[in-house]
Amino acid sequence: MENSTDLGMLIQFVYVASGALFIYGLKMLGSAATARRGNMLSAIAMLVAILAALMDQGIVEYQWILLGFVVGAIIGGAAARMVQMTSMPEMVALFNGFGGMASLLVGWAALSGATSTFTLITIALSILIGGLTFTGSLVAYGKLSETIGSGAVMFKGQQVVNSLIVLGILGSAVMFCQHPDTMQWLYLIVGLSLLFGVMAVIPIGGADMPVVISLLNSYSGLAACAAGFAVNNNILIVAGSLVGASGIVLTQIMCKAMNRSLSNVLFSGFGSVSAATGEVEGEIKPISVEDAYYVLEAASNVAFVPGYGMAVAQAQHVVKELCELLEENGAEVSFGIHPVAGRMPGHMNVLLAEADVPYDQLLEMDDINPRMENVDVAIVIGANDVVNPAAREEESSPIYGMPIINVDSARTVFVLKRSMASGFAGIENPLFYKDNTRMLFGDAKESIGGLIREFE
Ligand code: TAP
Repeated sequence: MENSTDLGMLIQFVYVASGALFIYGLKMLGSAATARRGNMLSAIAMLVAILAALMDQGIVEYQWILLGFVVGAIIGGAAARMVQMTSMPEMVALFNGFGGMASLLVGWAALSGATSTFTLITIALSILIGGLTFTGSLVAYGKLSETIGSGAVMFKGQQVVNSLIVLGILGSAVMFCQHPDTMQWLYLIVGLSLLFGVMAVIPIGGADMPVVISLLNSYSGLAACAAGFAVNNNILIVAGSLVGASGIVLTQIMCKAMNRSLSNVLFSGFGSVSAATGEVEGEIKPISVEDAYYVLEAASNVAFVPGYGMAVAQAQHVVKELCELLEENGAEVSFGIHPVAGRMPGHMNVLLAEADVPYDQLLEMDDINPRMENVDVAIVIGANDVVNPAAREEESSPIYGMPIINVDSARTVFVLKRSMASGFAGIENPLFYKDNTRMLFGDAKESIGGLIREFE
């Protein structure tokens, strides 16, 4: 008896230690320099927590668990090794979905022997949130990877249909808690939540999927938290709450950086129709690679501002090369990173880290903006919305109020893109018409390659 109490206390102690390591690991993820170690620390904490949980639950047969452990580790390890950096959001979407399904199954399994209303409510919650997270994540994966159409699917009466599904789920949950022996109510919750996951994500455009995935990540945490209550496991409650809270914080950061509300992302069908384009005064002034070189050669302060087009062109390595040549030429070089440049959180940081650009050269928007007036040449590489002054100047613009990198304050701006096509928001960019802007048309990798050849 005493031995089992001691073991119980030891397990709870290990849970507290793992929880503390999770939080410390999360904090380390806040800086690129410590992120890897933070990730490793949290992974170790998770392993320790799993081992403690295995001892906690009085498990009789370990062979199935061991098999699951080995198969899961092989699939997870191989997937993480093989995935392209730019496909990371897709992989996260899949993992969130599987997390949701795991919580659904844990909740369901907890039904045997559950008697209290509280446990029944947590079971219903873990099944409901887990189910919608599973199918919602699969749709998000499909849209991002373009295995299904990435456009927003909207139809008449969609809100009514969705409201009916939600009512159906709530009604079934109430009936389930009152009659836990009647399995039909449980099946109904499972079916309707799986359906709701699909219905909630189809009206959202593909380019908004990173925000949706971050939100679903938060849901997968909440589902795990509910499952933790259902099986009475403290570390599952703690880990689930951490995922739930950090997912919602990331979602908020992304929405704020786009100056859009979460409800606008979820319900407006952004990207299903192209937004209106405003009239812009001024004329386009193209520049050749040779002329751009002469300006750069004389510059002593250069700021690169990358965007989605750098990812498309895979120009990060040539950008690093040009950066080194400019430094050899005596220029001070920095990079301005907008929080929603590209199509996933940290997109530009990941690409530039891949090309070994030192972290201390990467400046956040709020740090580079005050320095922009001292910049001789701002080189915009495939960025559009994140440098659009309409966000500052035109109240009627759909992106009005979105914080941007003020490249137009630099003495000269080079914009590297292939055409006059708009960016993600589908709107005209007055930057391209400003007196100090020169358009260097062409694929970003080729244009920068041309500049490098001129320097050499
Ligand atoms: P965008 O505004 O989408 O502009 C990208 C530009 O890159 C396009 O105008 C395109 O012009 C150019 N481009 C494409 N391929 C190129 C190539 N090979 N070489 C050179 N240029 C190329 O990108 P941004 O400024 O990074 O802004 C990101 C947008 O995505 C924002 O509106 C943001 O709100 C949204 N968003 C971001 C996130 C996250 S988490 N990052 C999530 C959801 C939505 P051409 O076709 O003329 O070349």
